[in-house]
Amino acid sequence: MEPIETLQQEAQAKIQSAASLSELNELRVLYLGKKGPVQELMKGMKDLPKEEKPIFGQKVNQLKQLLSSMIEDKKVELEKKEMEAKIENEKIDITLPGRSPVLGNAHPLNLVKQELEDLFIGLGYQVIEGNDIVDDLYCFERANIPKDHPARDMQDSLYIDQNTLLGTHTTAIQMMVLEKSAPNLPIKVVCPGKVYRRDDDDATHSHQFMQMEGLVIGEKVTLSDLKGTLEFMAKKLFGQDRQIRFRPSYFPFTEPSVEVDVTCHICNGKGCPTCKGTGWIEILGAGEVHPNVLKMAGYDPERCSGFAFGVGIERVAMLKYGIDDIRHFYTNDKRFSETFKRFD
Ligand code: PHE
Repeated sequence: MEPIETLQQEAQAKIQSAASLSELNELRVLYLGKKGPVQELMKGMKDLPKEEKPIFGQKVNQLKQLLSSMIEDKKVELEKKEMEAKIENEKIDITLPGRSPVLGNAHPLNLVKQELEDLFIGLGYQVIEGNDIVDDLYCFERANIPKDHPARDMQDSLYIDQNTLLGTHTTAIQMMVLEKSAPNLPIKVVCPGKVYRRDDDDATHSHQFMQMEGLVIGEKVTLSDLKGTLEFMAKKLFGQDRQIRFRPSYFPFTEPSVEVDVTCHICNGKGCPTCKGTGWIEILGAGEVHPNVLKMAGYDPERCSGFAFGVGIERVAMLKYGIDDIRHFYTNDKRFSETFKRFD
Protein backbone atom coordinates (compact mmCIF):
# COMPACT_ATOMS: atom_id res chain seq x y z
CA MET A 1 0.00 0.00 0.00
CA GLU A 2 2.94 2.27 0.52
CA PRO A 3 3.58 3.15 -3.14
CA ILE A 4 -0.05 4.21 -3.45
CA GLU A 5 0.27 6.69 -0.62
CA THR A 6 3.58 8.08 -1.85
CA LEU A 7 2.15 8.47 -5.33
CA GLN A 8 -0.94 10.13 -3.94
CA GLN A 9 1.04 12.68 -1.92
CA GLU A 10 3.36 13.47 -4.77
CA ALA A 11 0.53 13.90 -7.34
CA GLN A 12 -1.58 15.88 -4.92
CA ALA A 13 1.24 18.38 -4.30
CA LYS A 14 1.94 18.78 -7.99
CA ILE A 15 -1.73 19.24 -8.93
CA GLN A 16 -2.17 21.82 -6.19
CA SER A 17 0.72 23.87 -7.44
CA ALA A 18 -0.14 23.68 -11.16
CA ALA A 19 0.00 27.24 -12.46
CA SER A 20 -1.79 26.87 -15.78
CA LEU A 21 -4.30 24.73 -17.60
CA SER A 22 -1.64 23.35 -19.89
CA GLU A 23 0.55 22.36 -16.94
CA LEU A 24 -2.47 20.69 -15.34
CA ASN A 25 -3.17 18.79 -18.52
CA GLU A 26 0.41 17.54 -18.60
CA LEU A 27 -0.04 16.26 -15.02
CA ARG A 28 -3.26 14.47 -15.97
CA VAL A 29 -1.49 12.68 -18.81
CA LEU A 30 1.50 11.96 -16.58
CA TYR A 31 -0.46 10.36 -13.69
CA LEU A 32 -3.63 9.01 -15.27
CA GLY A 33 -2.40 8.26 -18.81
CA LYS A 34 -1.96 4.76 -20.21
CA LYS A 35 1.69 4.69 -19.33
CA GLY A 36 1.30 6.47 -16.04
CA PRO A 37 1.97 5.16 -12.52
CA VAL A 38 -1.70 4.46 -11.71
CA GLN A 39 -1.93 2.18 -14.71
CA GLU A 40 1.38 0.59 -13.69
CA LEU A 41 -0.07 -0.19 -10.25
CA MET A 42 -3.08 -1.86 -11.89
CA LYS A 43 -0.81 -3.96 -14.03
CA GLY A 44 1.28 -4.99 -10.99
CA MET A 45 -1.87 -6.33 -9.31
CA LYS A 46 -1.57 -9.70 -11.05
CA ASP A 47 1.61 -10.48 -9.06
CA LEU A 48 -0.11 -10.01 -5.68
CA PRO A 49 -1.46 -12.80 -3.53
CA LYS A 50 -5.09 -13.46 -4.29
CA GLU A 51 -6.47 -12.19 -0.97
CA GLU A 52 -4.72 -8.82 -1.27
CA LYS A 53 -5.99 -8.16 -4.77
CA PRO A 54 -9.49 -6.73 -3.92
CA ILE A 55 -8.20 -4.32 -1.29
CA PHE A 56 -5.32 -3.22 -3.52
CA GLY A 57 -7.63 -2.83 -6.49
CA GLN A 58 -10.02 -0.76 -4.42
CA LYS A 59 -7.22 1.50 -3.21
CA VAL A 60 -5.88 2.07 -6.71
CA ASN A 61 -9.38 2.91 -7.94
CA GLN A 62 -9.87 5.33 -5.09
CA LEU A 63 -6.55 6.95 -5.95
CA LYS A 64 -7.59 7.22 -9.57
CA GLN A 65 -10.90 8.86 -8.64
CA LEU A 66 -9.26 11.15 -6.13
CA LEU A 67 -6.69 12.38 -8.63
CA SER A 68 -9.36 12.81 -11.33
CA SER A 69 -11.57 14.88 -9.10
CA MET A 70 -8.62 16.92 -7.85
CA ILE A 71 -7.61 17.65 -11.44
CA GLU A 72 -11.21 18.57 -12.26
CA ASP A 73 -11.44 20.97 -9.28
CA LYS A 74 -8.10 22.51 -10.11
CA LYS A 75 -9.22 22.91 -13.72
CA VAL A 76 -12.30 24.88 -12.65
CA GLU A 77 -10.13 27.02 -10.40
CA LEU A 78 -7.55 27.73 -13.12
CA GLU A 79 -10.19 28.47 -15.75
CA LYS A 80 -11.75 31.00 -13.43
CA LYS A 81 -8.37 32.61 -12.80
CA GLU A 82 -7.56 32.76 -16.50
CA MET A 83 -10.90 34.34 -17.26
CA GLU A 84 -10.40 36.91 -14.52
CA ALA A 85 -6.95 37.75 -15.86
CA LYS A 86 -8.36 38.10 -19.37
CA ILE A 87 -11.13 40.41 -18.21
CA GLU A 88 -8.63 42.46 -16.27
CA ASN A 89 -6.40 42.81 -19.33
CA GLU A 90 -9.17 43.74 -21.71
CA LYS A 91 -10.73 46.27 -19.40
CA ILE A 92 -11.66 49.62 -20.98
CA ASP A 93 -12.06 52.69 -18.92
CA ILE A 94 -15.56 53.85 -19.70
CA THR A 95 -15.14 56.93 -17.55
CA LEU A 96 -12.85 58.51 -20.19
CA PRO A 97 -14.68 61.12 -22.25
CA GLY A 98 -15.21 60.01 -25.88
CA ARG A 99 -13.42 61.67 -28.79
CA SER A 100 -16.03 63.75 -30.54
CA PRO A 101 -15.72 63.77 -34.34
CA VAL A 102 -14.83 67.09 -35.96
CA LEU A 103 -17.98 68.34 -37.62
CA GLY A 104 -17.97 70.76 -40.51
CA ASN A 105 -20.44 73.57 -40.94
CA ALA A 106 -22.44 75.10 -43.73
CA HIS A 107 -20.59 77.43 -46.10
CA PRO A 108 -21.80 81.05 -45.85
CA LEU A 109 -22.98 80.94 -49.47
CA ASN A 110 -25.11 77.92 -48.67
CA LEU A 111 -26.44 79.67 -45.57
CA VAL A 112 -27.64 82.58 -47.69
CA LYS A 113 -28.94 80.30 -50.44
CA GLN A 114 -30.87 78.31 -47.84
CA GLU A 115 -32.26 81.44 -46.23
CA LEU A 116 -33.44 82.78 -49.60
CA GLU A 117 -34.97 79.45 -50.56
CA ASP A 118 -36.86 79.21 -47.25
CA LEU A 119 -38.10 82.76 -47.66
CA PHE A 120 -39.44 82.16 -51.17
CA ILE A 121 -40.86 78.72 -50.41
CA GLY A 122 -42.79 80.53 -47.67
CA LEU A 123 -44.23 82.81 -50.39
CA GLY A 124 -45.35 79.82 -52.46
CA TYR A 125 -42.44 79.65 -54.91
CA GLN A 126 -40.90 76.48 -56.28
CA VAL A 127 -37.11 76.06 -56.19
CA ILE A 128 -35.66 74.87 -59.51
CA GLU A 129 -31.98 74.22 -60.06
CA GLY A 130 -30.30 73.82 -63.44
CA ASN A 131 -26.96 72.71 -64.84
CA ASP A 132 -23.75 74.74 -64.94
CA ILE A 133 -23.50 74.04 -68.68
CA VAL A 134 -26.29 75.65 -70.68
CA ASP A 135 -27.32 76.22 -74.29
CA ASP A 136 -26.63 79.57 -75.93
CA LEU A 137 -30.33 79.47 -76.86
CA TYR A 138 -31.53 79.73 -73.24
CA CYS A 139 -28.67 81.80 -71.88
CA PHE A 140 -28.94 84.51 -74.54
CA GLU A 141 -31.34 84.09 -77.47
CA ARG A 142 -34.45 83.44 -75.40
CA ALA A 143 -33.45 86.21 -73.01
CA ASN A 144 -33.73 88.66 -75.90
CA ILE A 145 -29.96 88.81 -76.42
CA PRO A 146 -29.35 87.81 -80.05
CA LYS A 147 -25.91 86.87 -81.38
CA ASP A 148 -24.78 90.41 -82.21
CA HIS A 149 -26.19 92.08 -79.09
CA PRO A 150 -23.66 94.21 -77.16
CA ALA A 151 -24.98 92.83 -73.83
CA ARG A 152 -23.16 89.61 -74.68
CA ASP A 153 -19.80 91.33 -74.15
CA MET A 154 -20.53 91.94 -70.47
CA GLN A 155 -21.31 88.29 -69.96
CA ASP A 156 -18.63 86.73 -72.11
CA SER A 157 -17.99 83.28 -70.75
CA LEU A 158 -16.31 79.95 -71.24
CA TYR A 159 -17.66 78.20 -74.33
CA ILE A 160 -17.61 74.42 -74.67
CA ASP A 161 -18.59 74.71 -78.35
CA GLN A 162 -20.41 77.33 -80.44
CA ASN A 163 -23.74 76.60 -78.79
CA THR A 164 -22.85 75.50 -75.27
CA LEU A 165 -21.23 77.46 -72.49
CA LEU A 166 -20.93 77.76 -68.74
CA GLY A 167 -24.06 79.71 -67.78
CA THR A 168 -23.48 83.44 -67.30
CA HIS A 169 -26.68 84.09 -65.37
CA THR A 170 -29.39 81.92 -63.85
CA THR A 171 -31.79 83.58 -66.31
CA ALA A 172 -30.87 80.58 -68.50
CA ILE A 173 -32.71 78.26 -66.06
CA GLN A 174 -35.70 80.58 -66.09
CA MET A 175 -35.89 80.55 -69.87
CA MET A 176 -36.04 76.75 -69.79
CA VAL A 177 -38.74 76.81 -67.10
CA LEU A 178 -40.70 79.30 -69.17
CA GLU A 179 -40.57 77.13 -72.30
CA LYS A 180 -41.52 73.99 -70.39
CA SER A 181 -44.44 75.64 -68.59
CA ALA A 182 -45.99 77.42 -71.60
CA PRO A 183 -48.85 78.17 -71.90
CA ASN A 184 -49.77 77.35 -68.29
CA LEU A 185 -50.14 80.02 -65.63
CA PRO A 186 -49.07 81.00 -63.05
CA ILE A 187 -45.32 80.46 -62.76
CA LYS A 188 -43.60 81.21 -59.45
CA VAL A 189 -40.04 79.97 -59.28
CA VAL A 190 -36.66 80.83 -57.84
CA CYS A 191 -33.60 79.38 -59.56
CA PRO A 192 -30.34 79.27 -57.61
CA GLY A 193 -27.14 78.30 -59.37
CA LYS A 194 -23.50 78.86 -60.15
CA VAL A 195 -22.61 81.26 -62.94
CA TYR A 196 -19.41 82.12 -64.79
CA ARG A 197 -18.13 85.20 -66.56
CA ARG A 198 -14.82 86.21 -68.04
CA ASP A 199 -13.64 88.59 -65.36
CA ASP A 200 -10.47 89.68 -63.61
CA ASP A 201 -10.74 88.49 -60.02
CA ASP A 202 -10.37 91.10 -57.30
CA ALA A 203 -11.99 91.91 -53.94
CA THR A 204 -15.43 92.37 -55.50
CA HIS A 205 -15.22 90.39 -58.77
CA SER A 206 -15.01 86.66 -59.33
CA HIS A 207 -15.14 84.71 -62.59
CA GLN A 208 -17.42 82.27 -60.76
CA PHE A 209 -20.22 83.26 -58.43
CA MET A 210 -23.75 82.33 -57.40
CA GLN A 211 -27.08 83.85 -58.24
CA MET A 212 -30.67 83.25 -57.42
CA GLU A 213 -33.23 84.54 -59.82
CA GLY A 214 -36.95 84.78 -59.32
CA LEU A 215 -39.61 84.61 -62.00
CA VAL A 216 -43.34 85.19 -61.58
CA ILE A 217 -45.75 85.06 -64.54
CA GLY A 218 -49.48 85.47 -64.17
CA GLU A 219 -52.47 87.35 -65.48
CA LYS A 220 -51.87 90.71 -63.90
CA VAL A 221 -48.43 90.71 -62.35
CA THR A 222 -47.16 94.27 -62.06
CA LEU A 223 -44.12 96.22 -60.98
CA SER A 224 -45.76 96.90 -57.62
CA ASP A 225 -45.97 93.13 -56.98
CA LEU A 226 -42.24 93.05 -57.65
CA LYS A 227 -41.64 95.92 -55.26
CA GLY A 228 -43.67 94.31 -52.47
CA THR A 229 -41.84 91.00 -52.94
CA LEU A 230 -38.38 92.58 -52.91
CA GLU A 231 -39.18 94.73 -49.90
CA PHE A 232 -40.27 91.61 -48.03
CA MET A 233 -37.00 89.94 -49.03
CA ALA A 234 -34.84 92.92 -48.01
CA LYS A 235 -36.50 93.11 -44.58
CA LYS A 236 -36.06 89.39 -43.99
CA LEU A 237 -32.40 89.48 -45.02
CA PHE A 238 -31.27 92.76 -43.49
CA GLY A 239 -33.81 93.63 -40.80
CA GLN A 240 -37.36 94.94 -40.55
CA ASP A 241 -36.31 98.63 -40.74
CA ARG A 242 -35.01 98.32 -44.29
CA GLN A 243 -36.53 100.26 -47.17
CA ILE A 244 -35.95 99.76 -50.88
CA ARG A 245 -35.91 102.00 -53.91
CA PHE A 246 -36.01 101.38 -57.64
CA ARG A 247 -33.68 103.12 -60.09
CA PRO A 248 -34.23 102.86 -63.84
CA SER A 249 -31.84 100.46 -65.51
CA TYR A 250 -31.46 98.29 -68.56
CA PHE A 251 -31.60 94.55 -69.12
CA PRO A 252 -32.48 93.12 -72.54
CA PHE A 253 -34.95 90.63 -71.02
CA THR A 254 -36.96 93.05 -68.87
CA GLU A 255 -38.93 96.22 -69.69
CA PRO A 256 -39.01 98.37 -67.66
CA SER A 257 -35.81 97.35 -65.89
CA VAL A 258 -34.69 98.52 -62.48
CA GLU A 259 -31.71 98.44 -60.19
CA VAL A 260 -32.80 97.86 -56.59
CA ASP A 261 -31.16 99.54 -53.60
CA VAL A 262 -31.77 98.85 -49.94
CA THR A 263 -31.13 101.26 -47.06
CA CYS A 264 -27.77 100.50 -45.45
CA HIS A 265 -28.12 98.07 -42.54
CA ILE A 266 -24.90 99.30 -40.94
CA CYS A 267 -25.70 103.04 -40.64
CA ASN A 268 -29.46 102.79 -41.16
CA GLY A 269 -29.31 105.12 -44.15
CA LYS A 270 -27.17 107.87 -42.60
CA GLY A 271 -24.07 107.17 -44.68
CA CYS A 272 -21.01 105.06 -43.83
CA PRO A 273 -18.07 103.34 -45.62
CA THR A 274 -20.18 100.22 -46.39
CA CYS A 275 -22.70 102.30 -48.38
CA LYS A 276 -19.98 104.69 -49.60
CA GLY A 277 -21.69 107.52 -47.75
CA THR A 278 -24.94 107.29 -49.73
CA GLY A 279 -27.10 105.45 -47.21
CA TRP A 280 -28.15 103.00 -49.96
CA ILE A 281 -26.70 99.68 -51.11
CA GLU A 282 -27.39 98.20 -54.52
CA ILE A 283 -28.49 94.60 -54.13
CA LEU A 284 -30.03 93.38 -57.37
CA GLY A 285 -31.39 93.88 -60.86
CA ALA A 286 -35.02 93.29 -61.77
CA GLY A 287 -37.88 94.26 -64.04
CA GLU A 288 -41.06 93.30 -65.86
CA VAL A 289 -40.43 90.38 -68.20
CA HIS A 290 -39.96 91.67 -71.77
CA PRO A 291 -42.87 90.83 -74.15
CA ASN A 292 -40.36 89.32 -76.61
CA VAL A 293 -39.21 86.85 -73.92
CA LEU A 294 -42.79 85.79 -73.25
CA LYS A 295 -43.53 85.43 -76.95
CA MET A 296 -40.43 83.34 -77.70
CA ALA A 297 -41.33 80.92 -74.91
CA GLY A 298 -44.91 80.51 -76.19
CA TYR A 299 -46.86 82.97 -74.03
CA ASP A 300 -49.17 85.73 -75.25
CA PRO A 301 -47.90 89.02 -73.74
CA GLU A 302 -51.38 90.50 -74.20
CA ARG A 303 -52.79 87.96 -71.77
CA CYS A 304 -50.08 87.64 -69.16
CA SER A 305 -47.23 89.54 -67.62
CA GLY A 306 -44.60 88.95 -65.00
CA PHE A 307 -41.52 90.08 -63.18
CA ALA A 308 -38.02 88.75 -62.76
CA PHE A 309 -35.18 89.59 -60.42
CA GLY A 310 -31.65 88.35 -59.98
CA VAL A 311 -29.73 88.52 -56.74
CA GLY A 312 -26.05 87.78 -56.26
CA ILE A 313 -25.62 85.38 -53.35
CA GLU A 314 -22.02 86.46 -52.66
CA ARG A 315 -23.14 90.07 -52.55
CA VAL A 316 -25.85 89.34 -49.98
CA ALA A 317 -23.44 87.22 -47.91
CA MET A 318 -20.77 89.95 -48.01
CA LEU A 319 -23.24 92.58 -46.83
CA LYS A 320 -24.91 90.38 -44.25
CA TYR A 321 -21.76 89.02 -42.65
CA GLY A 322 -19.43 91.98 -43.30
CA ILE A 323 -17.02 90.11 -45.62
CA ASP A 324 -14.64 92.44 -47.44
CA ASP A 325 -13.24 90.15 -50.13
CA ILE A 326 -15.24 87.83 -52.42
CA ARG A 327 -12.20 85.54 -52.79
CA HIS A 328 -12.63 84.35 -49.18
CA PHE A 329 -15.59 82.27 -50.36
CA TYR A 330 -13.43 80.23 -52.71
CA THR A 331 -10.04 79.87 -51.08
CA ASN A 332 -11.28 77.23 -48.62
CA ASP A 333 -9.48 78.57 -45.58
CA LYS A 334 -10.95 76.66 -42.64
CA ARG A 335 -10.49 79.63 -40.31
CA PHE A 336 -12.84 81.61 -42.53
CA SER A 337 -15.43 78.84 -42.91
CA GLU A 338 -15.46 78.05 -39.19
CA THR A 339 -16.49 81.62 -38.39
CA PHE A 340 -19.93 80.70 -39.70
CA LYS A 341 -20.51 77.80 -37.30
CA ARG A 342 -22.60 80.02 -35.08
CA PHE A 343 -25.09 80.70 -37.88
CA ASP A 344 -25.54 77.02 -38.71
N1 PHE B 1 -29.64 88.24 -65.23
C1 PHE B 1 -29.25 89.51 -64.65
C2 PHE B 1 -27.74 89.46 -64.37
O1 PHE B 1 -27.20 88.40 -64.25
C3 PHE B 1 -30.00 89.82 -63.41
C4 PHE B 1 -31.45 90.03 -63.64
C5 PHE B 1 -32.33 88.99 -63.54
C6 PHE B 1 -31.93 91.28 -63.97
C7 PHE B 1 -33.67 89.17 -63.75
C8 PHE B 1 -33.29 91.48 -64.20
C9 PHE B 1 -34.12 90.43 -64.08
O2 PHE B 1 -27.12 90.47 -64.22
